[in-house]
Amino acid sequence: MAMFPMRSIKVPIVMGVIAVPLTIAMLVGWILVVVRNPGFTQQVATHSWLVAAGVASCAVISTVLVLFSVFLSREIRESQRQERFIDSVTHELKSPLAALKLFVETLDRRDLDVQQRSKVYRMMLEDIDRLGAFIDDILQASRVGYGGGERAFEALSVAVMAERAADRVRERHGATAEQVRVQVEPADLVVVTDPTGLETVLRNLLDNAVKYSEDDVSVTLRAEPARKQRVRFEVQDKGIGIPPEHLKRVFERFYRVPSESVKRRRGTGLGLYVAATIVHNLGGRLQAASAGPGTGTTMRFELPARPRPPAP
Ligand SMILES: Nc1ncnc2c1ncn2[C@@H]1O[C@H](COP(=O)(O)OP(=O)(O)O)[C@@H](O)[C@H]1O
Ligand SMILES: [Mg+2]
Repeated sequence: MAMFPMRSIKVPIVMGVIAVPLTIAMLVGWILVVVRNPGFTQQVATHSWLVAAGVASCAVISTVLVLFSVFLSREIRESQRQERFIDSVTHELKSPLAALKLFVETLDRRDLDVQQRSKVYRMMLEDIDRLGAFIDDILQASRVGYGGGERAFEALSVAVMAERAADRVRERHGATAEQVRVQVEPADLVVVTDPTGLETVLRNLLDNAVKYSEDDVSVTLRAEPARKQRVRFEVQDKGIGIPPEHLKRVFERFYRVPSESVKRRRGTGLGLYVAATIVHNLGGRLQAASAGPGTGTTMRFELPARPRPPAP
């Protein structure tokens, strides 16, 4: 449930749609009056600066109206995203806390045997992990939002890095090595980059690929050399896909595709914003490709294999 009444972006759009044609219609009508009344034209012709001023002010008014509508609707969309974010933060924090409280109350009861106790402990650990992952998401987003801090570039084995990221995601989702595959060609491929940044990106992409799949998870992380001494990374899944009109917007802060299948899965809409910002800072550009709902998704980016070291 929304915490605040949602403002509608329809109003400024409708205002713009009505106001702009009205201004243009006024301008055209005015020109017609002038053209159809020669006497009037002669009078006005002596004051041609008046005509020019009229046309110029009409153009200015139209531009201002269009800009006003665009900016206002952007503002309202951002504010709606933030409201959704607060809702989701509240939910993400409250539900594991409520569960933890319940577990502690359960443990307080003496009549639990060892097996039951260890089951409760396991469930508590899962909730604590969930809280930790969620807080990580928020911290990462605020860190990259403030410029990402220091980056230390290192020569990395892509295969080792990719396997490490895949392992973390397999562990998190209980997925097998067949469900989350890693293909690095050639196996000794090396990239000089920021290890923490690259691992965060790969983990975010793999995490989404598994999360936005149905039960038959089939995710592949590929890495290979690309043109101009770059390394191409690709995370492909056979999951729910992304409708074409959302392919660019998924990289915006707090943006989640407004569909039932996405709502059913937990998320803040921060992971791809973090990943895209890090890739950009490391010299690449993250792109999403999908043929639409149900057809799977591919996330791609390229990094310079040997960038010039950052200035001291
Ligand atoms: N592999 C994917 N398949 C389908 N949709 C995806 C995938 N990755 C991201 N998305 C869409 O992009 C949105 C933004 O992703 P992200 O920033 O990681 O946020 P979230 O916390 O929702 O996972 C997701 O909510 C989802 O709608
Ligand atoms: Mg995500």
